[in-house]
Order: sequence, then structure tokens, then C-alpha cells
Amino acid sequence: MDRTSTYFQNQWNAELYDSKHSFVSELAADLVEILSPKPGECILDLGCGTGHLTHKIASKGAEVIGIDSAPTMVEQALHNYPQIDFSVVDARNLPFTEKFDAVFSNAVLHWIKEAEEVVIGINKALKPGGRFVAEFGGKGNVKAIVTAIYNALQKAGYPADSGLNPWHFPSIGEYGSLLEKHGLQLTFATLFERPTPLDDGEQGMQNWLKMFANSFFNGLSLDAQMSILTDIENQLRPTLYKNGTWFADYKRIRVIAIK
Ligand code: BEZ
Repeated sequence: MDRTSTYFQNQWNAELYDSKHSFVSELAADLVEILSPKPGECILDLGCGTGHLTHKIASKGAEVIGIDSAPTMVEQALHNYPQIDFSVVDARNLPFTEKFDAVFSNAVLHWIKEAEEVVIGINKALKPGGRFVAEFGGKGNVKAIVTAIYNALQKAGYPADSGLNPWHFPSIGEYGSLLEKHGLQLTFATLFERPTPLDDGEQGMQNWLKMFANSFFNGLSLDAQMSILTDIENQLRPTLYKNGTWFADYKRIRVIAIK
């Protein structure tokens, strides 16, 4: 079957992100505690989204720069926190040299398949002795959801094309080796399950799929998309829907590394 028309917008909708997916920054509040920003430090928030964690870091007295590749997110971040320095920057091509005491990143690195380019840029951006503190999706992240998406696509007559999958979920072994290869000393790494409740009751899984998984469905007719979404929900309901709330089967990596 052909992919002919487009229903999902393949761009970051900053308002939807803030209103229906606020758990992304709320769950990472303790990552900022691990970062432990100090007054006077210069910190990069890589993939700042709408700026909530950047603001939390700044509130500890550090000087923070927030960067994101999505102009819509940066625009919303500037609207939310006009006093903070936010800009549109591609993490695969970081323009900083020995500028930061720390690089911080939450829920972003799994969107970038070119992980090595990012790590090279982070190493270059850090001052000697600087730290990298990050959390993102690790090996096995959203496995049930991805399996259901491919099942539904195949049942509807679309090939299971791995090129549609926008995510890179490395193991801690893989990612730790990459950090070490590029001059960062891994001091902490963990992979843990974090089943995450989604906002908006019965709508929660569809909202999540429309916001984060749209690349699987772009180009399909509206009818095909609606029936595929329903099929995905039906497959996942027995395991990921409990007492009126949908859950995403998140599995996170946390790493700390020192230059
Ligand atoms: C995550 O935060 O793990 C995630 C978010 C969106 C899509 C896939 C994974």
C-alpha cells in the first residue's frame, strides 16, 4: 500500500508538549539534583525543550544556555523564561569549546541516531574536569509500543520498515564505551524501568503516539491512521492500560561522565 497523504504534523508542537506531556520534565527533577548545579557554574542544557529544567538549573544560581534543534521549542522556552539564553542548535554540531562546567541532557539523546557526533561535541564543549549528566531512553525502551506499531502496520499491509523508527536506544555498555572512546570517564551508568503514566485518560496513548511516534504514520491516509491507532491501543490495552490511565513502557539510561 502507498503512503499518500499526511495527517500527523511531523514537527514539535510546543504547546501540546507543555500541556499534555509535562511529565517529561517533571520526572527528571531529580536528575537536576544529581547534576547539582552550583552558583557561578556555566551549564549547557542540551535539548532544552520548552525550558522548564533549564529554568530549574538557573534557579540554583548557575549560568545556563538552553539549546534545542526545534525552533518551536526554543520559541516557547523564550516565551516561558525570557531571562534565559535559549537558541536553536543542532546537537550533532555543537559550536562550543571548553565553555561549560557541565553538560546536562534529559529525554533527548534517543532522538539522535548520530550519537558519536554528539558525544564528540559534548567532550569538546566541556572544560577539563567538567561533567556530563544525562538521562534518555535505553535498550528496550517502549518495546511493547514499538512492537504493537509494527504489528499494526503489517496487518494493514505496510512493510515493517525499520527506517521509520526515529529512535536510538543504546545499552549502557554501548553508550559507556562511546563516552570512553571520546575521552569521557564513565563514573555512573544505570538502565532502569520507568513505567510512565500518560496524561488525559483514555486519550493518553493516542496523544503519545501522535506527539512522539508520528514518523511511523506520516503519509498514510486518515482512515488508515485511525484504524492503525485503534489496533495499537487494542494490542496494548491488556498490559499498558490500568484503572483509566495509559502507561508508556519507558526504560531509561542514566549516565555521569567526567572529562
Ligand atoms: C522517552 O522519553 O523515552 C521517549 C519519548 C518519546 C519517544 C520515545 C521515547
